[in-house]
Amino acid sequence: MKQSLQLAPEPLAEEVCRAVDHAEVITNLFRDFSVALPRDTVVRRDEPLSNRTTLRVGGPADLWVEPSSENALSSILELCALRRVPWMVLGRGSNLLVRDGGFRGAVISLTSPQFSRLEFTGDRIEAGAGVRLKHLAVESRRQGLSGLEFLEGIPGSLGGALRMNAGAMGSWTFDVVERLRCMSPMGDILDLPVSEVEVVYRSCPILQTHLALGATLRGTVCTAEEVREKMDGFSRKRWDSQPNQPSAGCTFKNPSASLPAGRLIDELGLKGARVGAAMVSDIHANFFVNLGGATARDVLTLIDLVRTRAREARGLELETEVEIVGED
Ligand code: EPU
Repeated sequence: MKQSLQLAPEPLAEEVCRAVDHAEVITNLFRDFSVALPRDTVVRRDEPLSNRTTLRVGGPADLWVEPSSENALSSILELCALRRVPWMVLGRGSNLLVRDGGFRGAVISLTSPQFSRLEFTGDRIEAGAGVRLKHLAVESRRQGLSGLEFLEGIPGSLGGALRMNAGAMGSWTFDVVERLRCMSPMGDILDLPVSEVEVVYRSCPILQTHLALGATLRGTVCTAEEVREKMDGFSRKRWDSQPNQPSAGCTFKNPSASLPAGRLIDELGLKGARVGAAMVSDIHANFFVNLGGATARDVLTLIDLVRTRAREARGLELETEVEIVGED
């Protein structure tokens, strides 16, 4: 026993040291947060993330923070930088796969009222990153503003939709954005016209490093009834073509407009393929559903399996749309 301990390979010893160091860093950061942040900012340790994602898998976050203001958020980023602790923002967790070991660092949630502002002036909408897309779509309908109907069935927040330029029913989030407000990793605020923001299919690159605070959106004036009709049509289409079991939405980006990943996976005969309690949906093949009790490992293995089949059978490299974070 003693001998085997002495002979323990070096990397293992290093890993143990790193883990101990990390625990200490997190303890210190937790203390910094408690001292420096306003009392109404929520700070918790070891927060389970599985019930904060729509896929319902994954381990805990070392730290969970709900800043109560932009100043508090800026202090959080500053303290994380000082202690060299990684951070990420979690919206509604609808496009996220957290690995089973959880996230080593701070997870920031913009759910406080400060970040959920929603104001209508004429055809313009000022919306905070924390606003739910469904709420945004329904309020726009009430105001008789068209153009945001496609957001109704996306189970996310505006911040997440901006970061990934979420889309559905032929529209993208940035179709309705006029200005983007975001915070740099150093806590500085930028307010950019959309013409200065690079936007591509399923991504807004600046929001890979910066954090979305909100946006000015623009709709088209019409009647609430017209908006309702359009929204109902989208909703029916969604219910007919997408599963309602826990999932992270579409798993892969579409390789091209003419070849949706769902059709490709379907053609490969993979609907219903299972690893543990993770399954390729038999309703829409780009949705991987949690049948109950799936682990992140199950989902990741299923992702690998589908990727390998697409590569071998069709020479195509599928890229995940779902964001994968954390450690095994
Ligand atoms: N299809 C199949 N088999 C399937 C699934 C789809 O043959 O199992 C076919 C459909 O019949 C259709 C085509 O593939 O001809 C495209 O399917 P769909 O209309 O469902 O659109 P999609 O490209 O698969 C995109 C977005 C979805 C969004 C829908 C609805 C991506 C990766 N996905 O899906 O977004 O809800 O359009 O507009 O761009 C998400 O981002 O998480 C997401 C769900």
